[in-house]
Amino acid sequence: MACPFSVTSRQAVCEALTHRDLGVRPAHEPVPPALLATPAHPIFASLVRMRDDGVQPELKAAIGAALDSFSEDDIRQTTIKVAQQLATRLSTAEQLTRFNYSLPICLLAEMLGVAVRQRDALVDEVMDFVRCIAPGGSTQQMISGAQAAGKLQIRMQQADGPLFLRLSLQIGDRSLAEANAIGLFFQACEGTAGLLGQTLLLMSHRSESAEYLISEVLRQTPPIHTTRRFALRDTQLDGQALVKGQCVTIPLKTAEESFAFGYGVHQCPGSHWAKTIALAGIDYLSALNFDPSLLSYFRWRISQNAHVPEFYTAKEHNNDCGDF
Ligand code: HEM
Repeated sequence: MACPFSVTSRQAVCEALTHRDLGVRPAHEPVPPALLATPAHPIFASLVRMRDDGVQPELKAAIGAALDSFSEDDIRQTTIKVAQQLATRLSTAEQLTRFNYSLPICLLAEMLGVAVRQRDALVDEVMDFVRCIAPGGSTQQMISGAQAAGKLQIRMQQADGPLFLRLSLQIGDRSLAEANAIGLFFQACEGTAGLLGQTLLLMSHRSESAEYLISEVLRQTPPIHTTRRFALRDTQLDGQALVKGQCVTIPLKTAEESFAFGYGVHQCPGSHWAKTIALAGIDYLSALNFDPSLLSYFRWRISQNAHVPEFYTAKEHNNDCGDF
């Protein structure tokens, strides 16, 4: 869906993200038509990120409480354990790209209770699912994503890890907990991979600490750089008229402020998880002493809203080094 309306100032971004006449989905289309009657349909409709009904605040509080019940040290130790399972050494740029996407997914898998042997397939399924939920998916991506949703649902039906048990307890409804556990994979994957990749790039030419450079990426080039809202009725935004159904693109970085983790009722409840995973991941990668030339070539992920460098091995005579 085209988004012809956009805002730019800090004040207009705050207004848009707290506007009572703007919703995360168009009023007449709570689920994208391409996902109707597919396994992705009930999952999409259950996601805290995709609803503005009376259940959302309670669901959000339950997910927040489950996430907050783990300490920074729990997350850090588990991230290191998972990083060791993923890579004891990195020899190609493609392996580094895969590591960056896999780390947040496999950390959540470990805590939700998905067996190590299932995780390679799980990463592929999450990557497919992300494509059908994020804006701008092609027909083929919607089909693959919907199939992946079915497989993720089966995996979550067997989940019994500590994060899943706390989500279930807090939410009080197993199938709603399963859908929102799948939602955590979706929410964590591109943002955290972008934070990891962009911080590695900054580290290659700056000497400040990884912790500082992570906050610098979040301040200057947020890995999720835009979000969308839809007018639920005719209304006004930033002094201009909006008609019912109109889509608004909202930048998460303005000249005055960065909203890297959003703002208002849909603000990210996993920001401390994201920063801890990224820092533990960078510390782990730094200790591996991987060849810095793995960072030489990258392209930005094809995405309407995520800024994720994808490292690759250059073929001879290819001067495309990315632009950072
Ligand atoms: C660097 C990594 C991450 C970034 C940049 C990021 C960014 C965001 C942003 C911008 C939103 C708001 C979207 C909107 O208002 O339209 C959001 C929502 C959300 N994020 Fe994150 N996120 C990251 C990692 C995570 C992680 C690791 C988790 C969970 C462990 C998580 C869970 C969520 C959830 C559940 C929502 C939906 C909240 C709601 O709609 O009420 N995120 N995230």
